Amino acid sequence: MSKAIFIRNANQLVTLQGGAHAPLVKEAMSELGIIENGSVWIEDGVIQAVGTDEELLAMFEGRLDEAEVVDASGKLVTPGLVDPHTHLVFAGSRENEFNMRLQGATYMDIMNAGGGIHATTRATKAASNEELFHASYGRLNQFLRHGVTTVEAKSGYGMEWETERKQLEVAKRLNENHVIDVVSTFMGAHAVPKEYKENPDEFVRLLVEEMIPMVAELGLAEFNDVFCEHGVFTPEQSRVILEAGKRHGLIPKIHADEIEPYEGAELAAEVGAISADHLLKASEKGMRAMAEKGVVGVLLPGTAYFLMAESANGRKMIDLGVPVALSTDCNPGSSPTVSLPFIMNLGCLKMGMTPAEVITATTINAAHALNRGQEIGSLEVGKKGDVTIFNIENYMKLQYSYGVNHTDTVVKNGQVVVR
Ligand code: NIG
Ligand code: FE
Repeated sequence: MSKAIFIRNANQLVTLQGGAHAPLVKEAMSELGIIENGSVWIEDGVIQAVGTDEELLAMFEGRLDEAEVVDASGKLVTPGLVDPHTHLVFAGSRENEFNMRLQGATYMDIMNAGGGIHATTRATKAASNEELFHASYGRLNQFLRHGVTTVEAKSGYGMEWETERKQLEVAKRLNENHVIDVVSTFMGAHAVPKEYKENPDEFVRLLVEEMIPMVAELGLAEFNDVFCEHGVFTPEQSRVILEAGKRHGLIPKIHADEIEPYEGAELAAEVGAISADHLLKASEKGMRAMAEKGVVGVLLPGTAYFLMAESANGRKMIDLGVPVALSTDCNPGSSPTVSLPFIMNLGCLKMGMTPAEVITATTINAAHALNRGQEIGSLEVGKKGDVTIFNIENYMKLQYSYGVNHTDTVVKNGQVVVR
């Protein structure tokens, strides 16, 4: 049994209490449940008590010598951050395309010419299991140092069974070997491989009849994602792929309305997706449908920034009642970053979200986008002992003072893993 951890006397302890059962919407996204001079007692990896330092001292006075005490005086304490959308497991990098885009080429031009996702697919196919594992492990270390304790990871740099399986197996091994929890999503429908360019429905058939059933049978993923975009998968093909996943117990997610309006948000609501992600060009009708069905909008302002596009309208989505989460979209083409705190800053400056809303969007709402709202994303009794301590006095400073890593200490499953 591991030693108890007593995090004491935070200047602000952001609890986000009350959001475990459903993601927070509208005004509730601003209710952070802050406790001043707040403390948390964690034992056996689970939060046992949350309150003011005075309250917890009274409760645990006789047991102080059993615990590792972490002094959080003057600091900000939040739930461990959750990143609900990444393409973590990949090989290679694409700074050459960055340079091409700076000279006028578009993301889609590069992809259609055989680069983009196809370039990373070639590199990922060529990489050994070990190479992929070590490259991704290094990225997880960086996530952790930025205060992130749970990361989603998509496949999709294979688009044929062997490489998709290799990516998912690496993600599974990362989950078992790294302190960060890695949550897997199958994204065989990331692009149409060039051999199927003339007959994309045959590739859809392969996904639906062969790959999705095998992913489910081997227990390699919880979610099934598709890039629903003009020139990639149509809404009709996306529907078929997501419905097939559902029949095999895989929860739908969708890359929706990223580059052109394509009724992806509407489709997410129709199929009962747990989240629709990107949404730069989502229609108001689609946003309203998402709000009605409680589909989490996972917004990725780092991707818009890096592709030099206008960000999704996060402000409008929140006002319409869409539960909003934020993510890095960490990938080598459209968002090569692991800094969720930087994404928070973009959430404020590029999407009109408030500092309080972006905290909710990277904790409890992000947890809901991964079907883990009951386990992580808030500091409440019975939840996992995942906690991040920032070396700043208050939550607004996390977005205000950008481009600086303020992470001081990270506690994962009740153990100090970064100090
Ligand atoms: O979420 N839009 C599609 N997929 C990724 C990018 C993948 C890549 O360019 O390698 C995204 O932006
Ligand atoms: Fe993505």
